[in-house]
Amino acid sequence: MSYQNIQTAVQSGITTITINRPQKLNALNKDTIAELSHAVSEADTDENCRVIILTGSGDKAFVAGADIAEFSDFDESQGADLAEEGQRLLFDFIANLNTPVIAAINGYALGGGLELAMAAHFRIASENAKMGLPEVSLGLIPGYGGTQRLPLLVGKGKAMELIMTAGMLNAQEALQWGLVNHVVSSEELMEFTLKIATRIAHNSSTAIAAAIRSINAGFEKSINGFEAEISEFGNCFGTEDFVEGTTAFMEKRKPEF
Ligand code: COA
Repeated sequence: MSYQNIQTAVQSGITTITINRPQKLNALNKDTIAELSHAVSEADTDENCRVIILTGSGDKAFVAGADIAEFSDFDESQGADLAEEGQRLLFDFIANLNTPVIAAINGYALGGGLELAMAAHFRIASENAKMGLPEVSLGLIPGYGGTQRLPLLVGKGKAMELIMTAGMLNAQEALQWGLVNHVVSSEELMEFTLKIATRIAHNSSTAIAAAIRSINAGFEKSINGFEAEISEFGNCFGTEDFVEGTTAFMEKRKPEF
């Protein structure tokens, strides 16, 4: 598939997917969501891909939200379909992916942009990043998982305040709130993110996938996370990576996963 709105680059087992509509501050229209979904899915099924990085093109925006122009004349049922399809195709899909996904937030991450970053497994921001869920200023609420994922990351009270005020956090505030793990300069953002991705890429991908599933299980109301952990832990003992990891330890060498 050739892409119009995103770019992909592969380097040492790390796939970087760049949302590339800078003239619209990388806003997520339907086509961009479909392309992202396709690229993420392809990277996930590529056994050479060990980590995915999501970022935005230019130095102004990661993603400035869902494309407002595209849904401004929607009715209730079209609105519900938009959220349902987006969550299924992209946001829930990323959150539950076996391959680790890091968001490198290089500017505005608003609305659907912050929701995309929150669907990633963790986030790194540049100093000029600005994050918020301004949907109530448009007569909407976040529809791509924002009302669910923001409270998980920052707590209920802070999520209530950020959503109700339609405010924006700067990078340092987002760091303080626990919304992002690191803040670095714009120039360092990709290098720093690649460094962390490389550390992840050296570890067992089957174990990392099991860790993602187990951590996510703890946030599912219908699942007992401790039981999920026991089951995932047990399954690790049947993997080649377990044999390689423990054998390498005994033989005092680095494992080759
Ligand atoms: N949807 C569609 N287009 C968007 C967009 C969005 N979410 N965010 C920005 N754009 C477009 C603008 O319409 C403008 O296009 P134009 O040049 O054809 O008019 C272009 O991107 C540049 O944006 P502009 O508003 O001129 O940049 P700015 O630096 O003055 O302001 C923002 C930056 C991010 C503060 C502002 O663009 C904004 O508030 N965007 C919407 C944020 C939002 O509400 N997101 C949630 C959507 S649910």
